[in-house]
Amino acid sequence: MDDTIKHVASPLARQTLLDSDLTRPVAGGRPIPLLPWVQVIKIGGRSIMDRGHEAILPIVDELRSLLPEHRMLILTGAGVRARHLYSVGLDLGLPVGSLQPLAASEAGQNGHILGCLLAPEGVSYIEHPTIASQLAIHLSASRAVVGSAFPPYHHHEFPNSRIPLHRADTGAFLLADALGAAGLTIVEDVDGVYTDDPNGPEAKKAQLLRETSFADLAKLKGTLPFDPALLEVMANARHIERVQVVNGLAPGRLTAALRGQHVGSIIRTGARPA
Ligand SMILES: Nc1ncnc2c1ncn2[C@@H]1O[C@H](COP(=O)(O)OP(=O)(O)OP(=O)(O)O)[C@@H](O)[C@H]1O
Ligand SMILES: [Mg+2]
Repeated sequence: MDDTIKHVASPLARQTLLDSDLTRPVAGGRPIPLLPWVQVIKIGGRSIMDRGHEAILPIVDELRSLLPEHRMLILTGAGVRARHLYSVGLDLGLPVGSLQPLAASEAGQNGHILGCLLAPEGVSYIEHPTIASQLAIHLSASRAVVGSAFPPYHHHEFPNSRIPLHRADTGAFLLADALGAAGLTIVEDVDGVYTDDPNGPEAKKAQLLRETSFADLAKLKGTLPFDPALLEVMANARHIERVQVVNGLAPGRLTAALRGQHVGSIIRTGARPA
């Protein structure tokens, strides 16, 4: 009798995926960059969008003037409405995984606002599933698209915190790294990352960190202008070697950052040069 069973040869077929020494020959390589030309820009929810037209219109003008120069994935944070939502949801005892998509939809509302303002330039808001599977075609039809910066964790959000751990900054970084993007710029209302909150009680001794790393920031005792989970994700980055945090209230900073100039805080990640 002929053996009609089809054998599927695979280097990982006979071994545990738990031993990194065994998986390294196959899984140790660098992933391919999917969209190496896209610039990912995270616009702060609280720091920019919540301020209304005074902060939003100049940033929209800057994004508009960047369109001929760059193809962009513009991602928005959630801002004050998500803070209110967390307080109501936590008071009701909702699990962290239920709060995650609710906050993501608040970030999406901010994205819709930017999408409306940039619509005459052909820019639209697109939802998470479209970002996941059709970003390339959208960015072939238009120079930029807008989305919610939150990662789509839902009930898979880790339960070790009552407020979602993976928020807008982490979501923007995860996407930029998975896409092998040209860069990630985080737009805030401060000049960059300081040793202490420049608007907090220790403001007088706060010093701007022009250049730092995920490892050095992990040692800082105080707060950061982004989700702490971002530092963990940066440690394991595959493509994005540096992120720049810039002040979106200072005209021209975002444009300069996208042109490769050092105008805010540069944070080095764990990604090694190709
Ligand atoms: N070490 C620090 N360096 C710089 N800013 C800090 C630091 N710690 C706290 N901040 C504060 O973080 C503020 C920005 O707040 P936050 O990051 O929550 O806003 P956002 O990014 O717009 O929000 P969202 O996550 O909703 O998009 C700054 O105005 C600053 O006062
Ligand atoms: Mg922030």
